[in-house]
Amino acid sequence: MVDNAWPSWLPLREDLCALTPYGAPQIHDVIQLNTNENPYPLPTEVAAAIVEEIAQVVKNLNRYPDRDAIELRTKLASYINAQSGTAFGVKNIWAANGSNEIIQTLMLACGGAGRTALGFTPSYSVHPLIAKTTGTAWESGLREEDFSLDIGRAINEISRIRPSLVFLTTPNNPTGTSTALRDIREIARVCGEIEALLVVDEAYAEFSSESSAVTLISEFPHVVVSRTMSKAFAFAGARVGYLVASEPAIEAMLVTRLPYHLSALTQAAASVAVDFAATLQSEINLLIGERERVAAALTSYGYRPVPSASNFILFALPHSSTMSSAQAWTYFLERGVLIRDVGLEGFLRVTIGTKDENAAFLTVAAECAATTK
Ligand SMILES: Cc1ncc(COP(=O)(O)O)c(C=O)c1O
Repeated sequence: MVDNAWPSWLPLREDLCALTPYGAPQIHDVIQLNTNENPYPLPTEVAAAIVEEIAQVVKNLNRYPDRDAIELRTKLASYINAQSGTAFGVKNIWAANGSNEIIQTLMLACGGAGRTALGFTPSYSVHPLIAKTTGTAWESGLREEDFSLDIGRAINEISRIRPSLVFLTTPNNPTGTSTALRDIREIARVCGEIEALLVVDEAYAEFSSESSAVTLISEFPHVVVSRTMSKAFAFAGARVGYLVASEPAIEAMLVTRLPYHLSALTQAAASVAVDFAATLQSEINLLIGERERVAAALTSYGYRPVPSASNFILFALPHSSTMSSAQAWTYFLERGVLIRDVGLEGFLRVTIGTKDENAAFLTVAAECAATTK
């Protein structure tokens, strides 16, 4: 729906009239490497354990679910503690329907009219979108040409704009680049001085060798870390994200969350999946290995991949290319490979798939580079 096309009887907020629904194309019968999903289906043993658990839970669907998702949050706390050497308990975790819901709940709690959120672009485009729908003003700080953050510049932006919320995505989507923990600490320090909440979006943390910002929370209670089961746990379809934070920040989430927002089915399935974290880790290692292989192959064809700490790669088209990003995206799609045009001219983004999917992508990439010479 375009601006002014809404019927006059619909009292849609004026500031939303120009928006269109968010979403990447969902095209079937092609190799889907466009939404940073984990390409591996759940291992059979994990799927079987989930089905067994759901079979029990289904009998009680006449009742509302555990409003506070205690079992799932307790397990997620143990998972994070095992990964990061922290000592979080259930009161430091909040779970929701994907980390998108986490971000929305945070913005409802700490954003809104008269409040500003700041992020460093290019980054995850849903952050400014949720700012918009929650009536929060959005400011974009910039990244360097190599997509890294100049910390001095970022700190100046934060001090000048004095936002209520600062968003930092690491590893960053769509660039794949990560921010060092020592730099996040500097940003946390300045956020503390101006009483801003620092939201570190770590959707891809498991693919990175950098330490998690959850290790900063005991020192900086205004640091909150958003994580997801969509990527590392191969669980995008179940919709489970979670926040790791100090207790007051978690309590603020309870004020704005909907009652019974996380279904009993979701809680049960996710609790079982967390039990299998170690099994799923081997897939993460496979994907990291494939990421390095794909990046090396792209380089050999003349593309310029941005160093990635995630499960996708942003790459610049060869210098010799005469195609726009949109034309190159179509070239791949016409040959059965769906990747992502993220709106950065001269770049495209590919999600790391299975070995076979990556091979198919690289075959088209080699052809595309050859035709543009
Ligand atoms: C940086 C970032 N944050 C959050 C999300 C949302 O993940 P979820 O599936 O948990 O809503 C994504 C999804 O791609 C993402 O790239």
